[in-house]
Amino acid sequence: MTEPRTATEPRGTKQVHLAAHFPGVNNTTVWSDPRSGSHIEFDSFTHFAQTAERGLFDFLFLAEGLRLREQHGEIYDLDVVGRPDTFTVLAALAAVTEHLGLAGTINSTFNEPLEVARQFASLDHLSDGRAAWNVVTSWDAFTGQNFRRGGYLPADQRYRRARQFLETAIELWDSWSDDDIVADRESGRFLRRDDAGAFAHRDDQFDISGHFPVPRSPQGRPVIFQAGDSEEGREFAAARADAIFSRHARRDEGRAFYADVKGRLAAHGRTPSDLLILPAATFVLGDTDAEAADLAHDVRLAQVSGQTAIKFLEQLWNRDLSDHDPDGPLPTIDPIPGENTVAQGRASVRIHRDPRDVAAEWRQLADARNLTTRELIIEVTGRQSFVGSAQTVAREINDLVQADASDGFILVPHITPGGLDRFVDEVVPVLQELGVYRTGYPGHTLRENLGLGAPRTANSPVGIG
Ligand SMILES: Cc1cc2nc3c(=O)[nH]c(=O)nc-3n(C[C@H](O)[C@H](O)[C@H](O)COP(=O)(O)O)c2cc1C
Repeated sequence: MTEPRTATEPRGTKQVHLAAHFPGVNNTTVWSDPRSGSHIEFDSFTHFAQTAERGLFDFLFLAEGLRLREQHGEIYDLDVVGRPDTFTVLAALAAVTEHLGLAGTINSTFNEPLEVARQFASLDHLSDGRAAWNVVTSWDAFTGQNFRRGGYLPADQRYRRARQFLETAIELWDSWSDDDIVADRESGRFLRRDDAGAFAHRDDQFDISGHFPVPRSPQGRPVIFQAGDSEEGREFAAARADAIFSRHARRDEGRAFYADVKGRLAAHGRTPSDLLILPAATFVLGDTDAEAADLAHDVRLAQVSGQTAIKFLEQLWNRDLSDHDPDGPLPTIDPIPGENTVAQGRASVRIHRDPRDVAAEWRQLADARNLTTRELIIEVTGRQSFVGSAQTVAREINDLVQADASDGFILVPHITPGGLDRFVDEVVPVLQELGVYRTGYPGHTLRENLGLGAPRTANSPVGIG
């Protein structure tokens, strides 16, 4: 691995990739801010996407949640509630953008490969080569209850299905070649070969055969993302993904994750440039670093209200704490270990350690720093990735990319839909001055803009891949 450069060194050689995550249903979103708009109306998506495109971002990213979150059996409405269907939104955005990639999170546990392959091939056609698929597996049977088979698939089998799902989808996309449609009016011949789109796939998850209904799309197949963090998730990404959406935006853990995943590629016959690592990152900008720090503090207070702090606390303690004072110390009673019965459908409850150990750490931290419950929750539920003036934020982003902590970032603003505006107007120009960010889109398709090669197919000449 190359030695990290520092922010004071003139120009990095790696180019920074940027993407925009439409803020989802979590407490990053400050819906209570008067500047916050709708999370559902198309105008919000349009403003957000067009701002990202103005900033020459690689893509817009949509997360997915297939069931509303619940706490104590009731809808958890302290985060934003509701999320429209990914393909509907991305298809509509294809019409109001020209270069921006359109990345959708679609679950491999609850869907069928033919349907998902058809939808992504269609989106790739409609957008002229800008589709990307974030393949997620889901972590809970609670979400599965919304589907025909219920939460039938145990967690240890979900990546097996995800692998076979993706292999099947690739077979379907590859069942067409670029030149299968000849549409020769003279001879009356439309297809070059009778078996265009023919497929037959059988494994222990899928047994399907027929003709895939969508001809080969401009990218051949969408750019493939992966977002899980486990050993299986990392191996799945190393074998098949073009990019990883990670949660490791901080320097040391980012470098460790980057080295770990890029180090797995050789075993799959791939090179480090075949897989981009793009962590989710938040930011708060000010005219000066000091102003940004003040604003960042206000944003954290808005993100973690007293009510939200108690809800988070209940998720770890696994019991009702509605009488607890968020502005007082942590509860003296212990968490209830074992299956979480309080909250369902939330990533943050998936703490793999004994909650009593985590609670002991939190108590130690609260005592050492004299923190109230709410202040402690603010401290442990994450922090803004980049806080400062545009100059500071641009330098930090570049520094992390040159240090191989990432290949760029997927930015998650806290305001919808205007939260990217200032970043694009102020930070992007500084990155361009540093010589690490494009001044125009280099390619036509998302694959080209990400610097990824064309996908290898059965017909590809050796060396293309
Ligand atoms: C940064 C990140 C973002 C994710 N976003 C989503 C999402 O939007 N929708 C979803 O269903 N799962 C999402 N997941 C869940 C994963 O794709 C995966 O199903 C889950 O983390 C279990 O896999 P793991 O044990 O490998 O982490 C996300 C995971 C990570 C790490």
